[in-house]
Amino acid sequence: MKRNIFQKQDDSSIPEPEKSQVRNENNSGETNLNPPDHPASTDLTDVINLVNINQVYSDTSQANVVFKDFSLDIKDIKDQGQFITLMGKSGCGKSTLLRYISGLQKPTSGDVLIYGKKRTDKERIPMVFQQYTSFEWKTVLQNVALPLILKGVSKSEANEKAMEMIKVVGLDGHEEKWAKYPILSGGQLQRVAIARNLVVNPQILLMDEPFGALDTVTRKQIQVFLRSIFENAKVDPTVVFVTHSESEAVFLSSDIYILGSGPATVRHHFKIDLPEKRDDSVRYSTEFTEYVNKLGMMMEDLKNERK
Ligand SMILES: Nc1ncnc2c1ncn2[C@@H]1O[C@H](COP(=O)(O)OP(=O)(O)OP(=O)(O)O)[C@@H](O)[C@H]1O
Ligand SMILES: [Mg+2]
Repeated sequence: MKRNIFQKQDDSSIPEPEKSQVRNENNSGETNLNPPDHPASTDLTDVINLVNINQVYSDTSQANVVFKDFSLDIKDIKDQGQFITLMGKSGCGKSTLLRYISGLQKPTSGDVLIYGKKRTDKERIPMVFQQYTSFEWKTVLQNVALPLILKGVSKSEANEKAMEMIKVVGLDGHEEKWAKYPILSGGQLQRVAIARNLVVNPQILLMDEPFGALDTVTRKQIQVFLRSIFENAKVDPTVVFVTHSESEAVFLSSDIYILGSGPATVRHHFKIDLPEKRDDSVRYSTEFTEYVNKLGMMMEDLKNERK
């Protein structure tokens, strides 16, 4: 019998413990991935817990409740990078969730735990944005070395590590160029931003529609590149990624969460069971197309909802 790639994750036919889990209280319609007969494995640790998050904006006559008792747990498998993608209608709260995790914003109430500990104001988790965010008056090398310099690493060591990362993102030969459009292309500038964020070897990397401004061909190339950095043993972050593109989500992700809105809930969570090593040929597989089509239908359903 053909396997249904979209079978519910709480289906007892799924033998493996899941590495991501949604809390089952308060969020209607969500899927509990660890029913009692499938306790979480002990190799799994919590990377991020969003606990009973509430967010209300009262700056208009009608209060906008973006989150009401929203909870989400993201678990980690040791020494293995994972790619978690958030999708949902515009305005449902995806960027807000990334801002909570990064420390750029605090919810009205609720807790954000990073590796089980409440995050402090000092911590900042790196985030790549849609807009190019490099320092135009610095070279590629200076841009990538900067986070290390700010941490107090000596200039020579910072440059050495930055060069290693510049090679990982395929920009060696460009290190002395200004990190500025059009001296570097849009795709190259995003790779500078990715290298700058990866150089400190973060355990978590947040990416908010980072490839939204790129043309289709460059976008596909950079997706392949982003997957390939997971093959580098030195780089195993948990990436939390936001996109509106179904094919991008399927190509990159190990897990996809689809959020409903008004207030936000997790409507669906599913795992993408494609090979770890992904190149362009994956896009032509039947499974890939099935995932993309089904995801497209789910997103269409969300769009047709009033909220
Ligand atoms: N500072 C603010 N003041 C008032 N409302 C805000 C503020 N910041 C965010 N919001 C509201 O919070 C909701 C969620 O915004 P958010 O940017 O997280 O959405 P999103 O899912 O990332 O949308 P998109 O897909 O368009 O980027 C929106 O309704 C937005 O208007
Ligand atoms: Mg957004």
